[in-house]
Amino acid sequence: MKAIAINGSPRKGWNTDLILQSALKGAADAGAEVEMIHLYDLNYTGCKSCFACKLKGAEPCKCFLKDDLSPVLDKILAADVVLFGTPIYFGEITSQMHALIERLSFILMTYDDYSKKLFHGKVNCGCFYTMNVWQEGYEKMYEQRMKQSFAVLQRLNGIVMDYACCDTYQFSDYSRYQSARFNEEHKRQMRENQFPKDLEAAYQLAQKLCKGE
Ligand SMILES: Cc1cc2nc3c(=O)[nH]c(=O)nc-3n(C[C@H](O)[C@H](O)[C@H](O)COP(=O)(O)O)c2cc1C
Repeated sequence: MKAIAINGSPRKGWNTDLILQSALKGAADAGAEVEMIHLYDLNYTGCKSCFACKLKGAEPCKCFLKDDLSPVLDKILAADVVLFGTPIYFGEITSQMHALIERLSFILMTYDDYSKKLFHGKVNCGCFYTMNVWQEGYEKMYEQRMKQSFAVLQRLNGIVMDYACCDTYQFSDYSRYQSARFNEEHKRQMRENQFPKDLEAAYQLAQKLCKGE
């Protein structure tokens, strides 16, 4: 069993990365071979509309762009479990994650028939979002948007689960930043008391995906 995590945050060692590391640990403990991919280490763009994937006779579900993302798309389709992680930036997934979703979406559809499924394998997917707002803000403002952003994962024929990690600790020293909107003491409490629960939830979610529950 192969599980990969795709980090759509530019910051290694911070919230999204740590959530994914915990999820990968859950997958490894469930028996998966695991790999972390940091999107911000890679050189790529969104779809360039080359239409090589739409040529008659082209290998299905294959992106022919020669950059760092095409092999990642291959890995996603070959994996048993994929764990996507993204911070919320201005109510959206990050631009690097968006470019990946754009490329993935295009290779999974055909202009012959939008409803036709091109991918016949099965990949269970977990989506992890990290953000400043509280849980209620997430549910009110972002939850539907996030589900929509990752809707293409339904085309991978597996289970899709998600988890929101809210009210994250954003800087290591709030006093150095223009951040009067945030109460550092509250943020520190969240980091100490809630974040470990988020890590555990990510671990458990990945285990469920590996076991197909
Ligand atoms: C450019 C930018 C835009 C952001 N926009 C939002 C937002 O719209 N809503 C929100 O709740 N948090 C927002 N945040 C906060 C991050 O989503 C949050 O701190 C996240 O946990 C950061 O993930 P990381 O620690 O992996 O970098 C934004 C942060 C940045 C840098």
